[in-house]
Amino acid sequence: MNTVRIVGAGSIGTHHAHAARQLGWSVTVTDVSEAALERMRRDLYPSRYGAWDEAITQLSPDRAQGHFDLVIIGTPPDSHVPLALAALSESPVAILIEKPLAPPAATVEQLAARAADSATRVFVGYDHVVGRAAQMIARELAAGVVGRPLTIDVEFREHWAGIFRAHPWLAGPADSYLGFSEAGGGAAGEHSHAMNLWQFFAEAAGAGRVRQVQAAMDYISTSDGAAYDRLCLLLLRTESGLLGRVVQDVVTLPAELGCKPGADAVILRRPDQEDDVRIIHKTRPDDFIDELRHIERCCRDGVPSPIDLRHGLETQRLIRAAHETARLGTRITLDLAPPEGGDGAPIRSQQHV
Ligand SMILES: NC(=O)c1ccc[n+]([C@@H]2O[C@H](COP(=O)([O-])OP(=O)(O)OC[C@H]3O[C@@H](n4cnc5c(N)ncnc54)[C@H](O)[C@@H]3O)[C@@H](O)[C@H]2O)c1
Repeated sequence: MNTVRIVGAGSIGTHHAHAARQLGWSVTVTDVSEAALERMRRDLYPSRYGAWDEAITQLSPDRAQGHFDLVIIGTPPDSHVPLALAALSESPVAILIEKPLAPPAATVEQLAARAADSATRVFVGYDHVVGRAAQMIARELAAGVVGRPLTIDVEFREHWAGIFRAHPWLAGPADSYLGFSEAGGGAAGEHSHAMNLWQFFAEAAGAGRVRQVQAAMDYISTSDGAAYDRLCLLLLRTESGLLGRVVQDVVTLPAELGCKPGADAVILRRPDQEDDVRIIHKTRPDDFIDELRHIERCCRDGVPSPIDLRHGLETQRLIRAAHETARLGTRITLDLAPPEGGDGAPIRSQQHV
């Protein structure tokens, strides 16, 4: 990879611009908002990384056409699919679409079909699964180190005060897609890393894909017009019968984050034995540098990735199913065909519980 175009000069676009520069890539950033480009240059980038990097080019979207090896789509979820379809026409080596892939009710079949027919690799930015901690857990699960898991729990309990600290120009949830479940925000969309990690670990453990979903959601409407789920609790069962749970919320304060700032921990706990604690030191910028390195390696070696589009589509179905099961008050059984590509008809049957 040598050249990257980043669409969206917001929080994630700034992370990716820095990560790509650390890898020595040539970076062009576009945004529909001139104010966003200026904020990135004057405030966001210098406050995170010390100083603006003059080697980064900033352009309005209409002036940044032409070939780029990698196109990163770091805009709000409702623009992801149209921007990805447009980027596919340019035949880059790869496209990285930020998570969640789209709002819950969006149509994603055309993107899946076009990507399947294209030489361009399409990734969805669930970067935690390519992090060293998740990779270590997946390896140990696949090797049977803890035997065959009977259940898996993943929790992302993080009040979104932290997210708003990274977006000081937003007064609150109503100011962006974050405050609207329908737009891909709320706990289900914003913290969908947890669903994605659950799916990743279940597959690593040989338990297959999620077959049944039952959600309990806590939706709120605020006086300034926001309407979102602040709690998303999911019970999941895979095709092999493994039953587990995902909790995503934007209300837990203090947030339950990694073991300590600058580190993840993988702890192997067995009865009557000392805990086997593995500390993995990393910074937030490392997450995105590792993700871009991973994409480069997968494209070079032609090997599959846990952030391939097909996994992003699976998580997208889960977000949609979560809202649907809460709306219907039922458990939902997902139709597992087709195995790859389009998200298909997500619901085969509903059973009242
Ligand atoms: N992987 C992660 O850990 C992670 C972290 C943060 C954000 N994200 C995801 O990244 C996406 C963006 O989030 P953010 O926090 O950077 O948002 P943001 O509001 O900070 O920035 C989005 C930018 O996109 C621009 N934009 C909107 N439509 C556009 C278009 N059509 N063309 C060009 N620019 C356009 C906006 O002007 C804005 O500057 C979201 O989907 C979010 O969930 C992922």
